[in-house]
Amino acid sequence: MSEVVASTPGHLPVMLAEVLEQLAPRDGATYLDGTFGGGGYAGAILDAAGCTLYAIDRDPDAIARGAALAARHAGRLQLVEGRFGDMLALLEARDVTRLDGVVLDLGVSSFQLDEMGRGFSFRGDGPLDMRMSKHGKSAADLVNTLDESELADVLYELGEERYSRRIARTIVAARREAPITTTARLAELVRGCVPRDPSGIDGATRSFQALRLAVNDELGEIGRGLAAAAALLAPGGRLVVVAFHSLEDRLVKRFMAGAAGRSAGTSRHDPAALTGRAAPAAFRLLTPKALRPGRAETEANPRARSARLRAIERLHPASLAPEHLAAPRDVA
Ligand SMILES: C[S@@+](CC[C@H](N)C(=O)[O-])C[C@H]1O[C@@H](n2cnc3c(N)ncnc32)[C@H](O)[C@@H]1O
Repeated sequence: MSEVVASTPGHLPVMLAEVLEQLAPRDGATYLDGTFGGGGYAGAILDAAGCTLYAIDRDPDAIARGAALAARHAGRLQLVEGRFGDMLALLEARDVTRLDGVVLDLGVSSFQLDEMGRGFSFRGDGPLDMRMSKHGKSAADLVNTLDESELADVLYELGEERYSRRIARTIVAARREAPITTTARLAELVRGCVPRDPSGIDGATRSFQALRLAVNDELGEIGRGLAAAAALLAPGGRLVVVAFHSLEDRLVKRFMAGAAGRSAGTSRHDPAALTGRAAPAAFRLLTPKALRPGRAETEANPRARSARLRAIERLHPASLAPEHLAAPRDVA
């Protein structure tokens, strides 16, 4: 594992020890890392057991960087460029219909954040892009074309930005003069609309989060990915998810509680509805409360501070308690 971390200095894997403990990789098993990133989790999983690992990332740069790790674990690491929300189809195309575990480490990698040319960061200047896959509409497309109320809604709903209307008004006025094409210009406009935060959080943080989530449909991806992962898990299989902000974590928490029969889930997240397969959606919560990183980790890696890890395990049919025997539609 240390070899992997040393070879990928751009991204320190977050809560790696806890992820491995929850996933508990076994020899001969098949796993999916839906967010390959810098390969920190992937390398550690492959080192922990003689297993096979499929690793998805929608960022072509991440897949290209993974070639060295794949070569080191000849035949055991299969890299797949695509979205984890499409994991059912991506895996089925490779004849994989059952998994022993899935990990998702949501959001962007340090590689993406630190490369100003990708346009995710307000800490430097770069094109206003934010597309993980390098395809589709960019953040500049949204900022320069959405109407004022749509823009305000994005900032409010995906950034929980209380000054969303003021920011949207300012952006629309500014783009009449000239299109907003850089991260520095957008950050400057947003900062001018919000009061200084006494805790030192940059005033552009929430707006950049909102645009990133919108550009990459990240919440939609989480809904599709969780449902697909649950549908793919074999009995005893585990789903481990690390989330970084409350909008993501809320979706994960609700989905897992619903899958474990703790509360009603929404039909959108119903694995059986998605796949047409009658999988008994009966899971147990491995983490009744989200796990948080330890102090040593947050001191060494400030990006870990907001991490929350949640995990569930598919029950073996023989161990299903009567309350788990409801139709899948009622459980997930
Ligand atoms: C936080 S990083 C993962 C880091 C990784 N666990 C490691 O240890 O190096 C998240 C990665 O997931 C990718 N990603 C985010 N959403 C995705 C999605 N819906 N489908 C596929 N990849 C996604 C990003 O491109 C990024 O490379």
